[in-house]
Amino acid sequence: MYARVVAATAAAVLGTAAVLLSPASHARAGEGGLPTVIAHRGASAYAPENTLAAVDKAAELGFPWVENDVQRTKDGELVVLHDDSLQRTTDVEDVFPGRAPWKVKDFTAAEIARLDAGSWFSPAYAGAHVPTLKQYMRRVERNHQKLLLEIKNPELYPGIEQQTLKQLGNEGWLDHRHLRRLIVQSFSADSVRAVHELKPAVTTAYLGTPPVADLPRLAHFTDLVNPSYGDLSVSYVSAVHAFRGPHRRLGLFTWTVNDAATARRVAGYGIDGIITNKPDVVRAALESD
Ligand code: G3P
Ligand code: CA
Repeated sequence: MYARVVAATAAAVLGTAAVLLSPASHARAGEGGLPTVIAHRGASAYAPENTLAAVDKAAELGFPWVENDVQRTKDGELVVLHDDSLQRTTDVEDVFPGRAPWKVKDFTAAEIARLDAGSWFSPAYAGAHVPTLKQYMRRVERNHQKLLLEIKNPELYPGIEQQTLKQLGNEGWLDHRHLRRLIVQSFSADSVRAVHELKPAVTTAYLGTPPVADLPRLAHFTDLVNPSYGDLSVSYVSAVHAFRGPHRRLGLFTWTVNDAATARRVAGYGIDGIITNKPDVVRAALESD
């Protein structure tokens, strides 16, 4: 209840209830007016992050929205992985000793396909692989899911925006039906701008907490501003909502919220979505509020 009262207050401050929910905000507002819950790196508290098992786990728990990270191999294949190195989430040190620091960009797709990306998390996931973007897109499609795709470390991969869009198009994700369930985000404003300029119909998000004074500039090419939850306040969320992006009023998804109390608090700020490793925990918190 507290969350809804504070959210309503935030809307009143701006003088319109439409600030919280706009009819065109299918990519932002959650079911029944609750914030959208997005499974971060898949349901990554319960399955190894950025694997097909993690998006399957999100689907199994009933979460259509998944967030994942895309990078590029030495031979130009797009793969789904968070770190710029394979070290933390695979057995690359054992399979390729002497190749430190095991950067994604220094390995071919065939080499990466040999790695175990599940055992570090749990023996139950031994044999999980680093998916290619193509494999990943097909799984998300099979699961009827929605995709918040982060272009990770774009400075390492010149042209990755165009390549990612091409692959999304090849997999049928740039048609009208799929565009409704696709958001491309990055910590790099240049990357977000590039995506928007290449495919203006794609919903985009800028990761970070830009000063309010920068929002008019960013709103030319981003539809959402997605800050860390620690940076949030009612006034910041309201300030973001006061601007209009290329397609609609600016929205805001926050990350990475993994406990009930924080989920309720940020919901009270009037945010549009919560990116979480524990989507079940966040959903239960929002529904019980
Ligand atoms: O979607 C927000 C979040 O993924 C950004 O942080 O480091 O987990 O990619 P990171
Ligand atoms: Ca990410």
